[in-house]
Amino acid sequence: MIERIAHAKINLALHVTGQRDDGYHLLDSIVVFAEYGDRITIDLPDHSHGPITVSISGPFGDNLPSGPENLVTAAAFLLRDALMKTGANPAPVHIYLEKNLPLASGIGGGSADAAAVLLGLREAWNADIDLTPIAKGLGADVAMCLQSTPLRARRIGDEIQQLNKNIPLNIVLVNPGTPISTPDVFRHLVKKDNAPIELAGDGKFPEIEDLRNMRNDLQTPAAELVPEIAGVLSALEDSGAGLVRMSGSGATCFGVYETHADAENARERIREAHSDWWCVATRTTVS
Ligand code: C5P
Repeated sequence: MIERIAHAKINLALHVTGQRDDGYHLLDSIVVFAEYGDRITIDLPDHSHGPITVSISGPFGDNLPSGPENLVTAAAFLLRDALMKTGANPAPVHIYLEKNLPLASGIGGGSADAAAVLLGLREAWNADIDLTPIAKGLGADVAMCLQSTPLRARRIGDEIQQLNKNIPLNIVLVNPGTPISTPDVFRHLVKKDNAPIELAGDGKFPEIEDLRNMRNDLQTPAAELVPEIAGVLSALEDSGAGLVRMSGSGATCFGVYETHADAENARERIREAHSDWWCVATRTTVS
């Protein structure tokens, strides 16, 4: 049995710097990953009902389809097909997805699941194959989720530069419970040619003060679509965070705290005041 965490993706900053002719947006983003995430478990069963079967549990697993529209299933079949083209005959697998991350929430749940499945299956099938081209075919964020350590992503998110950070950040993630469509948020973005991130030093992770001067250009359009985002941001501001911002296309927002105890206290306070919000305290993974 192989187990992998599909780490939540957090855009500490996300600048939209342009738009390609095919409609995709050019981005410049500082990305970290939470220790917290979905859980992928891969079994090689003795008896199987098919080459790849998927079952789903967890707080956000209800009504989630397990067919090809789920990135877990799509990723598994893409890797299997690629291996079969090389003459291999991958054994049947059963994949369990424990869905702990809210759906359509700006923290890359589906992309992280797909990346975790690719990595887990490569191990299960003992395969020697570059996963990056398969990841890129599954979505703009899947390649960065293969790495799941601090990075800067440019272009449409597929040009990835590792950033050095060996001390975790202490983070609280808060989602008000309203799913939000990424294409809708991009459509509401008025200015698409914003300045890129200014980052001193090659591969050096920015200080909190530097991050405060950066932006998430999708925050304004997302908050127009989901007014609860303003309330989430102010709850985080009031909880003693050193940096507060929205991640991705929302609606999940985050606060960064000095210590893990500060993050846990903030989580408790926010949860007491807003029992219907999803709220976790976590650390980020390191390089
Ligand atoms: O690639 P992914 O499925 O994650 O993207 C979802 C949607 O978000 C795309 O169809 C596109 O409308 C928008 N998007 C974009 N520019 C990006 C990434 C995503 O416009 N760099």
